[in-house]
Amino acid sequence: MTTIGIIGAGHIGSQIARTAIETGHDVVISNSRGPETLADLIAELGEHATAATAEQAGAAGDIVVVTVPLKNYREVPVAPLAGKIVIDTNNYYPERDGQIAELDSESATVSGLLQAHLPQSTVVKAFNHIYFGAITDDALPEGTTNRRALAIAGDDDNAKALVAALQNQFGFDTVDAGTLDESWRFERDQPAYVVRQNAVELRANLALAERNKNSQ
Ligand SMILES: NC(=O)c1ccc[n+]([C@@H]2O[C@H](COP(=O)([O-])OP(=O)(O)OC[C@H]3O[C@@H](n4cnc5c(N)ncnc54)[C@H](OP(=O)(O)O)[C@@H]3O)[C@@H](O)[C@H]2O)c1
Repeated sequence: MTTIGIIGAGHIGSQIARTAIETGHDVVISNSRGPETLADLIAELGEHATAATAEQAGAAGDIVVVTVPLKNYREVPVAPLAGKIVIDTNNYYPERDGQIAELDSESATVSGLLQAHLPQSTVVKAFNHIYFGAITDDALPEGTTNRRALAIAGDDDNAKALVAALQNQFGFDTVDAGTLDESWRFERDQPAYVVRQNAVELRANLALAERNKNSQ
């Protein structure tokens, strides 16, 4: 059993909490407004869930999931996450997040920005290219034909292996898309983004990804 710290308790954070508890983990979950506002969610999740501040969730997690609107990524507490694997689910929506120059120029990736904000953590991009409801709806046991696959990216192979094992427990195959510099391959508007695909299809879609779309 692992304790998963979750920073962000919205669509994705609460769905990851449900799946994590279903698969035998404990969760410590937080939002921006304070633990007292998470009473309904904790009542639903049961005794393996605790509401906390973002700092407490970060400190408690063996693994920490950051799943806040990208515009708020700089508010993610740095010190409690030091030395930890951090799963980044975030995507860039300028209409929500405002324009971010490094992303507009495609000189950075969403998860690269979080990694720069958390220099002592090991960021793995995961769960960003699946609609939140599908985290439970599309989960299937290991070995099932045509099981859905999810991409991950990161700079540390051990961290990626751990996240792949977690995704397997949650009900998904994993395709390693490479380093954080390569994580644009399953960002928004790329072929692999938010479509149901098995591992073979996902590899093909990652290979079809194109950068410099904005300059074309
Ligand atoms: N929705 C999807 O299907 C989906 C799929 C894949 C990836 N994503 C990406 O995953 C991220 C989260 O998406 P979502 O749909 O779950 O968003 P959401 O429903 O809007 O939830 C965002 C959560 O983040 C919390 N939050 C905001 N700022 C925070 C802070 N500084 N510290 C702690 N918590 C904070 C919010 O808390 P309060 O409510 O208290 O402000 C809320 O619980 C986004 O980047 C999104 O693009 C979404």
